Amino acid sequence: MARLRVVGGRPLRGTIKASGSKNAAVAAIPAALLAQGPSRLENVPAIGDVHVFVDILRELGAEIHWRGPGVLEINPNGFDSWKAPYDLVKRLRASYYLLGVLLARFGRAEVALPGGCDIGVRPIDLHLKGFRALGAEVNLEYGVVKARAGKLRGATIYLDDASVGATINIMLAASLAEGTTVIENAAREPHVVDVANYLNAMGARIHGAGTEFIRIQGVPRLVGAEHSIIPDEIEVGTYMMAAVATGGDICVENAIAKHLEAVAAKLRETGAQVETNGDWIRVKGPDRPRAANVRTLRYPGFPTDLQQPYVSVAAVADGVSVIHETIYENRFGFVSELLRMGARIKVEGRSAIVQGVEKLLGAPVRVRNDLRGGAALVVAALAAEGESEIDDLQYIERGYERLDEKLRALGAEVTRIP
Ligand code: EPZ
Repeated sequence: MARLRVVGGRPLRGTIKASGSKNAAVAAIPAALLAQGPSRLENVPAIGDVHVFVDILRELGAEIHWRGPGVLEINPNGFDSWKAPYDLVKRLRASYYLLGVLLARFGRAEVALPGGCDIGVRPIDLHLKGFRALGAEVNLEYGVVKARAGKLRGATIYLDDASVGATINIMLAASLAEGTTVIENAAREPHVVDVANYLNAMGARIHGAGTEFIRIQGVPRLVGAEHSIIPDEIEVGTYMMAAVATGGDICVENAIAKHLEAVAAKLRETGAQVETNGDWIRVKGPDRPRAANVRTLRYPGFPTDLQQPYVSVAAVADGVSVIHETIYENRFGFVSELLRMGARIKVEGRSAIVQGVEKLLGAPVRVRNDLRGGAALVVAALAAEGESEIDDLQYIERGYERLDEKLRALGAEVTRIP
């Protein structure tokens, strides 16, 4: 179990580059299986979740190889199994995308339910509602989703909640369906658009990705394509939070500023200066951030994945901040570890009331199975006076590429202990 030793209390200064988006990559990798022939994905982050998905695809018979830093070549031709067993699926929640891919490709899919993690139940009922609307018979038997369909047929599907996973999963299945599918109340996150762009490069006919109405005209086949994964706005946002929590001044290159407008606005409210251009973002934190309330919302609102790192900013802010989490029912589990650093936080249901303190003090803390909660602990440790040690680093490295290297490039005193 790797650990990260942090000596905090110093402002971050310097420039780093954003890595490719985890949430776009874990959708594009299974999407490649829809094509006849190989695809080449670039700017793929070398993170835990990607390595696990590469293993899963290999076990399903696909040929997948790294062709240089960030370049994955995926050849689906040996891929012939429509079953994804639990021992594979339980390692990665995003493996639910295999349902849409296997259904579209084989007319059958047996994928074990991924199960939730520490942030909530994370049901997939909207995914299954979509598949049934496309004509599949879907049953849940002993923890395995069993779906089968002759030919998938286009349909209009209303999503009760603008679920990212359901939107992408339905897009995957509908790409090869007969006729036209319309997703109403679709998710608008940047990675939904990125996957749609990749599918269209393969020959799909998807319009409206990025809006709440996505139209997919089914095509008979898809061919392999080249695609470069968008930068990870959640990774960029996490470093922005660290800059504000430490009173630093950083620049993140290869970022898409437009994807972080809600985050930039909120950090300006805390007194930070945020300067953006097309592909870089500069954040200069105030000596001490002012308190500001946050309500997480679907994109383009304040992203739930940055709620937790923001709590660490609020923990050292001047004043009381109320942070309300609308997407998940239980996304404050990491707060208990922040209290060990001297934070003053009360969690009431889906809200955290944070009374900022002048100084946090370093402490040994541990990450639960909650990637962004772990990121919040890193932000707090960077701001805290003295030494912290963050255990179970692998949960954070699931989604943050070269975390210790990037932090050192920003002048942080961090050591990764294998
Ligand atoms: C994606 O998860 C991301 N993961 C999550 O990021 C992110 O937090 C989430 O979108 C919201 O932006 C990946 O992309 C791999 P959802 P997903 O379905 O698709 C309700 C990270 O740290 N819901 O958009 O699973 C339910 O209330 C991870 O990178 C249903 O009710 O999220 C649930 O709490 C964490 N039925 C909420 O939506 C459904 O069928 C989840 O939102 C599906 C969702």
